[in-house]
Amino acid sequence: MEKILDLITREMEQAFQAAGYDGKYAKVTLSNRPDLCEYQCNGAMAAAKEYHKAPIMIANGVVETLAGSKMLSEVQAVNPGFINLKISAEFLSEYLNEMSADERLGYEKAEKPKTIIIDYGGPNVAKPLHVGHLRSAIIGESVKRIARFAGHQVIGDVHLGDWGLQMGLIILELKERKPDLPYFDADYTGEYPKEAPFTIAELEEIYPTASARSKKDEAYKEAAMQATFELQQGRKGYQALLKHILEVSVSDLKRNYENLKVDFDLWKGESDVQPYIPAMVEEMKEKGYAHMSDGALVVDIKEETDTKEIPPCMLLKSDGASLYTTTDLATIVERMKLYHPDEMVYVVDKRQEMHFIQVFRCARKCGLVEADTGLTFLGFGTMNGKDGKPFKTREGGVMRLEYLLSDINEEMLTKVKNSRPMSEEEACEVAKVVGLSAVKYGDLSNQASKDYIFDVDRFTSSEGNTGPYILYTIVRIKSILKKYEEAGGCAEKALIGACENENEKALMLLLTRFNSVMDIAYEELAPHKVCAYIYEIANAFNKFYHETTILGTEDEERKKSRIRLLMLTQRVLETCIELLGFEAPERM
Ligand code: ARG
Repeated sequence: MEKILDLITREMEQAFQAAGYDGKYAKVTLSNRPDLCEYQCNGAMAAAKEYHKAPIMIANGVVETLAGSKMLSEVQAVNPGFINLKISAEFLSEYLNEMSADERLGYEKAEKPKTIIIDYGGPNVAKPLHVGHLRSAIIGESVKRIARFAGHQVIGDVHLGDWGLQMGLIILELKERKPDLPYFDADYTGEYPKEAPFTIAELEEIYPTASARSKKDEAYKEAAMQATFELQQGRKGYQALLKHILEVSVSDLKRNYENLKVDFDLWKGESDVQPYIPAMVEEMKEKGYAHMSDGALVVDIKEETDTKEIPPCMLLKSDGASLYTTTDLATIVERMKLYHPDEMVYVVDKRQEMHFIQVFRCARKCGLVEADTGLTFLGFGTMNGKDGKPFKTREGGVMRLEYLLSDINEEMLTKVKNSRPMSEEEACEVAKVVGLSAVKYGDLSNQASKDYIFDVDRFTSSEGNTGPYILYTIVRIKSILKKYEEAGGCAEKALIGACENENEKALMLLLTRFNSVMDIAYEELAPHKVCAYIYEIANAFNKFYHETTILGTEDEERKKSRIRLLMLTQRVLETCIELLGFEAPERM
């Protein structure tokens, strides 16, 4: 469906032309004075220069030609030359009826679907998920859903961190504990066991122990680096251990992400792209992009227009070891080869921005991507505690994701139990669903790049700009619709009639914005725009609901029309929360 602003702009174009002016001045926007009008057109001001006339004269001329408009019920020229507009109740309800008849609510799919890879999650194998990974998962999942809804082919890749010193540390610690395992015998030629020699619980204990020891024990650290090196050189026993570590970790990660309703199409990791590195580096050398500097192999990526120093991109350290940058470049090589994406979007902590500037520039300079391949860094800010400092446990340690989620669920459970009597089982179920909305909405309602404060009390509150408030609104609509049905009502074939009061009109006007909000949310990769939109709708709906009789409406037609409006409101809200990555319970 065409956007309502475009339809009104078209009407205004004709009016400008009829009054003798160029249609290019007719652009209509949402009003920034909602107390005066719904839409406005400021084109008379710009036209005044071309036609050497006072803007108000032009505006008056245009307004005159709109006298019989079916679309606009009020058209007013005001000094110095604004044109204030209100749309007619009939046109508005027609637009909404067309929207409700469409399964995509009037939002058209992209004409040229792109293939987009979204790199998000980024957990590090064998280390527990911490809150830093929460934002990537929540934002990435929503961006993925938004882009898919826009009609694109979107591939989500978790991009595991499975190639660093942490692997060597685990291998070494395991070797100290169970030296007799065949993985450590360099001469072993048999098959390695299928079962991993550790559980996830052990793995989660092994890593921190080893990491702590490496900080105090220099020889231990050296040995871990050596093990990492041998692993990376392809030592068979270590490779087999890496496989075990991955299996055990990944199944645990999948469980965690499932709880968050986050899922990935690809479970690739840094280790998968190592085979691409030698040829990639060779080519960069051959083509003269890479050169030696202080023993390391680097690519210069400075540009004349830079206002700050952009250091060269380092490919290989002096000992020949590859780096985080090298791995990300090789990942680009693999992605181009296997999926040929039009765009790659990275949802990563904004403190890694320099790393991505380097990777993107290097990839372009060395021709790893095509000139029009999009490389986008969607950097997010830090999630802080109430003290404004990065989130910590009460004991001051790194906050694990599971703890944070259970904190929210506990708080939610208390609130849910207080709201109405229900079984323990139902309360837990509802608390889980609503708790997820609290966490996700609390995050997504902020512009991604900003830091925000994780506030359990505020996020779980059913009042204010929160997930639970949105869900309450949806549940309220559901319960009215259910009562209507239970009383034998059926509005399936009914239409939304002309609005009868200001609150109803305000809600309707908001609903018409659905397709343009979706467009912006996709173009700007901005879930917070979806949040802001549904918050406005929830407010408008609740205002309407408090001042309008719905089920008690005498006139049957009018009642049906209101029921239809509720149904549409519910669909818009539910479509939006689906894009944000959570859902509403039946009752709360
Ligand atoms: N594993 C990294 C970390 O925990 C994040 C990975 C982000 N993605 C990427 N392609 N570098 O910091």
